[in-house]
Amino acid sequence: MKKIVILISGRGSNMQALLDAKLNCHIKAVISNRADATGLDFARQHGVPTAVVAHTDYPDREHFDTALAQLIDSFHPDFVILAGFMRILTARFVTHYHGRLINIHPSLLPAYAGLHTHARALQDGVKIHGCTVHFVTPDLDHGPIIIQAAVPVADDDTEASLAARVLHEEHRIFPQAIRWLCAAQVELADTGRVLNHTRNQPGFALISPALE
Ligand code: GRF
Repeated sequence: MKKIVILISGRGSNMQALLDAKLNCHIKAVISNRADATGLDFARQHGVPTAVVAHTDYPDREHFDTALAQLIDSFHPDFVILAGFMRILTARFVTHYHGRLINIHPSLLPAYAGLHTHARALQDGVKIHGCTVHFVTPDLDHGPIIIQAAVPVADDDTEASLAARVLHEEHRIFPQAIRWLCAAQVELADTGRVLNHTRNQPGFALISPALE
């Protein structure tokens, strides 16, 4: 059975979705860079070991990432899952976990990398927005894509209403991606492309606004 470690920074609703999904893998630990991350309580209540590596305890990113990697590696995980982990990781850290480091991002990448994705989507007036699960590479928010979900943007959407619609889909595609990984149905090929051996393709398009 594959082993995973999950990194969070706050609420941890995506981590909860992974725990609730009862994936066929061993969740070895949930690690946060913030002791006050509310998601840690949920993990503890579900019997998952937790740990904190506070970035404020280290002089720079290199030292923080080294300490974090040391702790992660003590669990010997096959995959390291960033579930709302709000720290930029050094290229050395990312390279160390090449093909094993996965992130969820609240936009249809490569659009809206970085922060404030929903506000920027509303500002631009896009009609379709969404979320992405991808392998992490040193190029921030631009790694090979595993799965995406698209949602319509409503005329009267606020940042909060759009965020909620996207988050609902995050909680659906994230467990799917990790399930595939743990079953070796998805892998990062040497070409840098994602191979998906399940070949499940949708038979429809999301068109927003709908056609008449
Ligand atoms: C999610 O929107 C995720 O895509 C982004 O940060 C947010 C974390 O939310 N990376 P949660 O902590 O999983 O509830």
